[in-house]
Amino acid sequence: MNTTNTDGYTNKIRQPIVSVLGHVDHGKTSLLDNIRGTSVVSRESGKITQHIGATEVPIDVVSDLCGGKINRSIIKIPGILFIDTPGHHSFATLRSRGGALADMAILVVDINEGIKPQTIESLNLFKKYKTPFIIAANKIDRIDGWKSSKWSFFAENILKQRREVKDKFEDIIYNFIGELYGYGFPAERYDKITDFTKNIAVVPTSAKTGEGIPDILMTLIGLSQKYLENRLEFDKDIVEGTVLELKELKGLGTALDVILYNGVLKSRHKLVLTGKDEVVVTGIKAILKPKALDEIRDPKENFENVHEQTAAVGIRIIPQESEGIIVGGIFRAVDENKVEDAISYVRRASKINIDLAKFGVIIKADAIGSLEAMAYELKNADIPIFKADVGDITKRDLIDAATMENPLYKTVMGFNVKIHPEAEEELEAMKDTGIKVISSDIVYKIIEDYQEWEEMKKNDMEKDFRSLLTFPGKFKILPNHIFRMSRPAVVGVRILGGRIRVGQRVLRNDGKTLGYIKSIKTKDTNHVEANMGDEVAVAITDMVIGRNAREEDILFIDISEKDASELKKYELTFEEKEILEEVAKIKRKDKPFWGM
Ligand code: GTP
Ligand code: MG
Repeated sequence: MNTTNTDGYTNKIRQPIVSVLGHVDHGKTSLLDNIRGTSVVSRESGKITQHIGATEVPIDVVSDLCGGKINRSIIKIPGILFIDTPGHHSFATLRSRGGALADMAILVVDINEGIKPQTIESLNLFKKYKTPFIIAANKIDRIDGWKSSKWSFFAENILKQRREVKDKFEDIIYNFIGELYGYGFPAERYDKITDFTKNIAVVPTSAKTGEGIPDILMTLIGLSQKYLENRLEFDKDIVEGTVLELKELKGLGTALDVILYNGVLKSRHKLVLTGKDEVVVTGIKAILKPKALDEIRDPKENFENVHEQTAAVGIRIIPQESEGIIVGGIFRAVDENKVEDAISYVRRASKINIDLAKFGVIIKADAIGSLEAMAYELKNADIPIFKADVGDITKRDLIDAATMENPLYKTVMGFNVKIHPEAEEELEAMKDTGIKVISSDIVYKIIEDYQEWEEMKKNDMEKDFRSLLTFPGKFKILPNHIFRMSRPAVVGVRILGGRIRVGQRVLRNDGKTLGYIKSIKTKDTNHVEANMGDEVAVAITDMVIGRNAREEDILFIDISEKDASELKKYELTFEEKEILEEVAKIKRKDKPFWGM
């Protein structure tokens, strides 16, 4: 059976699209290489074909690779189309009608390194999009003493390990499973699972030796039979796909690398695509398909010009127009007379599905899918979003952020985007407005950075606020430290409790005020404030030594009723509380209900 030519269309069910995700270097590409490489060896049953951004493994090959352990008579899918993602974000970036493009996913985790933030991010995305997935617990061959045998079933190979090695392996794998539980993802070794709806299957693998890969394929086939049948059915009147990548090609213009997941694409079709602001409609200059076993992301121009292609397949399209097309968006291909319908469909399907708040941060991402994924994570972190858009960070975004009153929302977050040079300049010019730009290609990092900054900012704000608010303070005029008798009087004092600040009014214990503190000095240094235990010289405007104050007098910082009530929100020290109580007593001689 060959599903890549038009005959394939007679199949009612297409290949499931399986995304391979995982942290950098955990073995995604090796896993696929291993499947590709081995199939080159086992040529008899038909070749694995290379697509743009994808690898197709026909079901006969899968069956071969599984040593005939698959019951072919009940399998309906014609094969599996694997997508290798260069980064974990591509999963969210690539959309189809129902949400994520992938029908299933393999999350590759280096078992010796364990869970990384991106691993959790991928897990959360699977949950959000309800994508069935399995985990490849990879690089088991690195376990000390592990005996590998090429392309073996894990379930058989584990029996051949020495006792200590087996124990060690179990330790590692159950640690990992425990960790997954800790994050709220119940998982189990796949060969111990009875109910795949309750547990995530963890398949131990080595992408280097191929052990465990037959197990991966078997588990995928099982999952697809169980969960995907309806999803994989062709709708023969619809031609639809997702744009994986936009590429500038010398002499050809812009090329669209796409996954066509439904229907038969023909070169006479009009393409209706998700655009940056509006839907883009264009004709097709060429449909290109890599020649057999050509490495996909390889720039070598080894393409075949074809007139039609049947889903599911990864191909390159040269459109007549490319202005405004965005990565990760969907497209429909239709005959000229159906363009209007397609426009309204694509418009609806391209709508960004994000709850915006009246006040919040601004988010930017490289594609609709990644924007939504980011919004989802922000929602989990309780960070409201004011504006969400696809594209680089622009000057407009900064200006919009500046309109936020709450300093914590004067923030622009970028996921997989650049800062426009003009915005960079603007940011420099706006340095003092407190605008914060956070960007990364990892959502977790963005949120972490934001939370860290938020914490700092909150502290600063509190500090600012504290400095405006009058806090309790009590001090004593020291004997033999009268430096000036009046206008202003300058005296040496010791702060007995709390603190004093320049500009604050001074209160006597009979309720009279003595003007305000004009300066605070030690030797030749001026201070804004002095704290408990400090001995300083203060100038107080209306104090006249011998008339309204004398040595050894105890004085207070005057506190307004409003500040006293504001102070209730703060954690005051024991001394501050005591002084506030004393001030209240003084005030209540005149106003019995002061501060109540
Ligand atoms: P990125 O595409 O950069 O995110 O990495 P990747 O996940 O595709 O990893 P890749 O397959 O490139 O593997 C990274 C390195 O790990 C390579 O040197 C591989 O040879 C090695 N590697 C991958 N899988 C295994 C494995 O199962 N065992 C051992 N020993 N090495 C492995
Ligand atoms: Mg890779």
